[in-house]
Amino acid sequence: MTRFNDKVAVVTGGGGGIGSAICRRLAEEGAIVIVTDMNAEAAGTVAKAICDAGRSAFSISADISDGRACASLVDQVIREHGRIDVLVNNAGINRRGNLLSLSEEDWHTSFAVNLDSMFYLCRATIPHMISAGGGAIVNTASQWGLYPAPNHIAYNVTKAAVAAFTQNLARDYAPDKIRVNAVCPGEIHTPMLEAGVNRSGRTIADLDKLVPFGRIGKPEEVAALVAFLASDEAAFICGSLVEITGAQAVA
Ligand SMILES: NC(=O)c1ccc[n+]([C@@H]2O[C@H](COP(=O)([O-])OP(=O)(O)OC[C@H]3O[C@@H](n4cnc5c(N)ncnc54)[C@H](O)[C@@H]3O)[C@@H](O)[C@H]2O)c1
Repeated sequence: MTRFNDKVAVVTGGGGGIGSAICRRLAEEGAIVIVTDMNAEAAGTVAKAICDAGRSAFSISADISDGRACASLVDQVIREHGRIDVLVNNAGINRRGNLLSLSEEDWHTSFAVNLDSMFYLCRATIPHMISAGGGAIVNTASQWGLYPAPNHIAYNVTKAAVAAFTQNLARDYAPDKIRVNAVCPGEIHTPMLEAGVNRSGRTIADLDKLVPFGRIGKPEEVAALVAFLASDEAAFICGSLVEITGAQAVA
């Protein structure tokens, strides 16, 4: 498929489980992919593997909880590639705890990484998309932002805010032909999920049983949805929160 031929796509958290799958998918479909992550080594490894497969990718390491780092990331991409057609705000962290057990630091860090980064990156990117006549933004929210899981107040609230942020941006910038949507994944097999499973003493098989489809999801399945939403095939989809849960959200 060539849905992203010559398009420039920036993917945050591109060194992680879902992010790396998104980078590979967009590159396979012709995009020049900017793999960005605070883990420089992971971002570099993903970009190199894409290049080794004959596709186009570059890595930039940045801590996107920092507004200046976000502005300079976007400046660098514009300087080196001239445009940003697709922005995938995928990086995120999952700090466990309820109102009383969560630390104040974890509350603020969760907002900084999961939400503020989107504010900074969209503010820096949208003017370029407006000048170019449009663009596509896909944000990673979560099933838990719509239907809270217990004992994850910071994660759930930041992801609910990502959903609201997505709808607000869509409403404001649809007239500029910028489509903004969010994906809301359920349990997806990644390093983040593995860490959560290890902390809780459960197994992947335990999680599989919670999903009516019979198994948890794969990063590549989320990547396929992100690619669709970012592509021209989704031309009239704007302001949508798309669940990808194997029916767990309705169980
Ligand atoms: N795995 C799941 O079950 C699941 C479910 C719903 C939503 N999500 C969301 O999907 C997204 C990707 O999650 P994943 O499971 O692939 O996790 P992951 O831990 O594998 O990847 C997250 C990546 O984000 C990067 N990152 C974290 N903080 C950063 C920062 N300050 N600056 C730059 N990069 C930073 C990490 O280095 C990591 O590479 C997250 O937003 C997560 O909340 C995951």
